[in-house]
Amino acid sequence: MRRCGLPRLLSALIASGMLCAGCAGQAQRPQSGVAAAQRPPVPLSLLEKLGTHRPARRSPALVTAFGRLWLGAAWYPEQWPQSAWERDLSLMQAAGINVVRVGEFAWSRLEPAEGRYDLDWLARAIDMAARHHIAVVIGTPTDAPPAWLTSRYPQVLRVGPDGRRAEHGGRRQFSYSSPLYRRLCRDIVTRLAQRFGQDPNVIGWQIDNEYTDESYDAGTRAQFQRWLQHRFGTLDALNSAWTTAYWSQTYTAWSQIPLNAQPGNPGLMLAHRHFVTDTWRGYQRNQIEALLPYLQARQFITSNFGGLAWSDNWDHYTLAHDLDLASWDDYVGQGHLDFYRNGALSDFVRGWKRQDYWVMEAQPGFVDWAPISNSLDAGETRAMTWQSIGHGADAVLFWQWRSALSGQEQYHGTLVGTDGNPVPLYYEVARIGREFRQASAAIAGTAPASEVAILITYDSRWAIDFQRHCADYRQFQALLGFYRPLDDLTHSVDIVNAYAPLARYKVVVAPGLNVIPQDLARHLAAYVRGGGHLILGPRSGMKDRYDRLDVHRQPGPLVAVLGGRVRQYYALDSPVAVSGPAGSGTASIWAEALQPLTRRTQVILRYAPNTSWLSDQPAALRRAYGRGGITYLGAWLDPRLTLDLLRRALDAAHVTPLAGSLPSNVELLRRYGQGREVSILINHGGEPRTIALPDAMSDLLHGGTKVRQVVLDPQGVAALERATP
Ligand code: GAL
Repeated sequence: MRRCGLPRLLSALIASGMLCAGCAGQAQRPQSGVAAAQRPPVPLSLLEKLGTHRPARRSPALVTAFGRLWLGAAWYPEQWPQSAWERDLSLMQAAGINVVRVGEFAWSRLEPAEGRYDLDWLARAIDMAARHHIAVVIGTPTDAPPAWLTSRYPQVLRVGPDGRRAEHGGRRQFSYSSPLYRRLCRDIVTRLAQRFGQDPNVIGWQIDNEYTDESYDAGTRAQFQRWLQHRFGTLDALNSAWTTAYWSQTYTAWSQIPLNAQPGNPGLMLAHRHFVTDTWRGYQRNQIEALLPYLQARQFITSNFGGLAWSDNWDHYTLAHDLDLASWDDYVGQGHLDFYRNGALSDFVRGWKRQDYWVMEAQPGFVDWAPISNSLDAGETRAMTWQSIGHGADAVLFWQWRSALSGQEQYHGTLVGTDGNPVPLYYEVARIGREFRQASAAIAGTAPASEVAILITYDSRWAIDFQRHCADYRQFQALLGFYRPLDDLTHSVDIVNAYAPLARYKVVVAPGLNVIPQDLARHLAAYVRGGGHLILGPRSGMKDRYDRLDVHRQPGPLVAVLGGRVRQYYALDSPVAVSGPAGSGTASIWAEALQPLTRRTQVILRYAPNTSWLSDQPAALRRAYGRGGITYLGAWLDPRLTLDLLRRALDAAHVTPLAGSLPSNVELLRRYGQGREVSILINHGGEPRTIALPDAMSDLLHGGTKVRQVVLDPQGVAALERATP
């Protein structure tokens, strides 16, 4: 059940007077700005506690989101006279566009002066879209506060790490922790929810836009210190967790603890990332609570995460947790589609909630922010769109439909020109629209399923990036080093939080779990004991939950499971040869000399002789444990050797092999539903390819029910359905 009223903790806090009712979305508009400024702020620790409430699963909203394929665009009707809307919407409808996102930066048009609202134009735009069978996602406008707000309440402006307060004229100029700003957000969002929460043509809500910049103002600093107090309880506990005896960092008052963006004590830096995560979560929750009382259960709530998904200012798993569905903004920028890279990012996004997702913004040919904002080639946008669908997206919306005449993004790609006529890419999108119509019924309700997973935690990502030790140690490259071969071998890889349930996976690979607290070690050990195969990459298990070196040394709490450990780590300035029962090749960037501690711990790779400290030392260990096994790779291995090693691991774990082989640069993706399976084949290469199918299938895009072979031109796509028992 969805709208089950206020969570109990929230109600109790409101009842006790500790939290104002406005926090639950029932705010009355303050009579004046002074009144708004005088309201008591919501203490952060309480918002933190609210974070422990898990919203009920809102399945009606998910049925809306995933019940069909959606093709869309970001549409900004406020930037054009109403006389232009009809033509815009007719062209959208003709292209098969069935959803638009509106409103996300339109605060100054929705509330032209404090407390004076004008939502009628948005209602007219939504109604007009409905007449064209185009559904609407409303973006809350809070990423772009209006000038009346920032001039009346300059205290809500964000302060950068350099101490400078942001000014009006851009976007994201607010402080994410400001209670006053949150109250103003809540007011406008409440108004929108009251007006459109029951609108039959509104299918969902996007909160804000790409949470990006944290603030370093005095209020945020005080909140950080209170947050630390809440987390550690005593200064003694904090001093011990951060080993502040080092460099005389010992704190004797909470107010002494700095807030800045400098490299500093890793414990403090990690705590700050957690604080940033909790603060954005509180910011997001403030709007969720404003929306919930007024929304129909079929309307979903999401937020479009930016930073090309891999950004790490805050923990994406934590923020996605409170949303109905995950969505992201998928841009190539300069160059062309790297299908492994974009595939890995898509799988990573699918892992945020471990369910299908939306691409809330996609590149309409080219962007305006890359060093060279070249266009994707003809056909490439279609291939990229189908790639997203294959990886579990149910919606792709292009940013944007039409460019504002002025503003910072005049050069960005669009689907129509300023004259309102289609640009060339429009026709490619219209083709996607036709194809979505043909394939929607077969694909709706299906999802990818994987037998292998890559594990991530933000703590580990942060800990490594705080102190890379080797500039070439780029974690996304490390992940891709495993993703590519796994994808080649299985054509379906999950990328999930290491704390996720793992029992469904036959093999899991953790490229860099640098931070392994006891609870995570127990979770991983249970997986192995139960029959799973865990492959740990280098730098695993070096740190505890405070980013403190583990006294057991690597892999910390998993030393006993592995029956082995790391004797010493080395950043490499040149490659070193390795060989053993697991194969042969080279290690580069990073190498650890390992030591087996039990007789049953097998050395599967050794470094070559005459390699200084690494000479003849073990480079990889494996041990059977419980009903499964654990492998520790102490080095960054070359692609061939990684492929060999993974192939053997997958064979040993009986991962279902792919029937037949695929030509290079052809991507195969599969989505499974009740009684059916849809395969999507994409030729990312420059040559036509012929692919024999293992079975007779229905060709969803080109017709035919007993198809046994498909020919794919460069950028060619096929979507094939077959019944499954
Ligand atoms: C996104 C942003 C959009 C637009 C787009 C341009 O990051 O959400 O509003 O600026 O970039 O590529």
